[in-house]
Amino acid sequence: MNWWKSLKGRVKLKEPLKNYTTFKIGGRARYFIEPQDFTDLKLLLNFSKRYRIPVFVIGRGSNILVNDKGMDAIVLHLNSGPFKQISLSNNFLEAGSAVLLSQVINFTRKHNLSGAEFLSGIPGTVGGALVMNAGVKGRSISNLVEDVAVMDYNGKIKTLSKRDINFGYRRSDLSKYIVLSVRMKLKKTNEREINDRISRYLNYRKVTQDLSHPSAGCIFKNPKGISAGRLIDLCGLKGRRIGGAFVSLRHANFILNLKKASAKDVINLISFIKHEVRKKFLVDLKPEIKIWN
Ligand code: EPU
Repeated sequence: MNWWKSLKGRVKLKEPLKNYTTFKIGGRARYFIEPQDFTDLKLLLNFSKRYRIPVFVIGRGSNILVNDKGMDAIVLHLNSGPFKQISLSNNFLEAGSAVLLSQVINFTRKHNLSGAEFLSGIPGTVGGALVMNAGVKGRSISNLVEDVAVMDYNGKIKTLSKRDINFGYRRSDLSKYIVLSVRMKLKKTNEREINDRISRYLNYRKVTQDLSHPSAGCIFKNPKGISAGRLIDLCGLKGRRIGGAFVSLRHANFILNLKKASAKDVINLISFIKHEVRKKFLVDLKPEIKIWN
């Protein structure tokens, strides 16, 4: 039975996932689905249960490495109207999970709202950023959260207040759900202050990060009190290459897709880096990116 034909949203079969990841790597998704609204999403989750098809959610694809053989699964891409709303009520900013962080920044700039500037330049969606608790040194999106609307895998919508959510360093337990939207508390300030702070964050990223080739940003989480990039650098691994995967010369925690890298190339390079860092520093680096196998 072609169950997907009863969905209202867009369905693509055997869709290449490399087109949806910032790494530009990854095999095809058996089902690539963009539900039209919450009802459609609920119906889709129903089918996934009935036919026992696993579901993987993709946002902007900026923090995942998809394997080369692809995903025998439903890849859920929230990309239609109801997931892309952004609005303001009192000083609460409400944003759908498919809103890009860059759109959040533009919106706060327009409304003179301060607090979210540190998200400037992070390439992701609101949903992805919440699930992985994205941020920069000492600040994470969880700092701004008032509550998060989610759908559970039975199709039930709930609102979780911040204290119901287990946020940690670059992690949360929101991956148990599908994030629908967030309410964030921001404060009014003047336009110049916001613009200055945004410029400073963007500039720091420009100077330190390597955006010359496709990548997934930092590969590893920082161990307590030290930069993973620094440890990898001290192992002399900048410029190390396996196949098309290359350790950035600018920031050692970036692996670049230099030339048609496969996921296998990247995974082999990750293993090699982990091995070298463990040998030299007795530190076990943990990936920040999600590897879809
Ligand atoms: N350093 C090196 N060699 C390198 C990289 C860094 O010696 O190859 C040194 C720097 O000179 C600096 C220190 O390590 O003294 C920290 O470097 P940086 O400021 O670049 O910060 P980071 O700890 O390496 C974190 C985030 C980045 C974020 C920056 C800036 C993690 C894993 N990484 O990196 O986020 O851009 O701070 O706020 O939390 C990402 O999440 O994808 C990401 C890249």
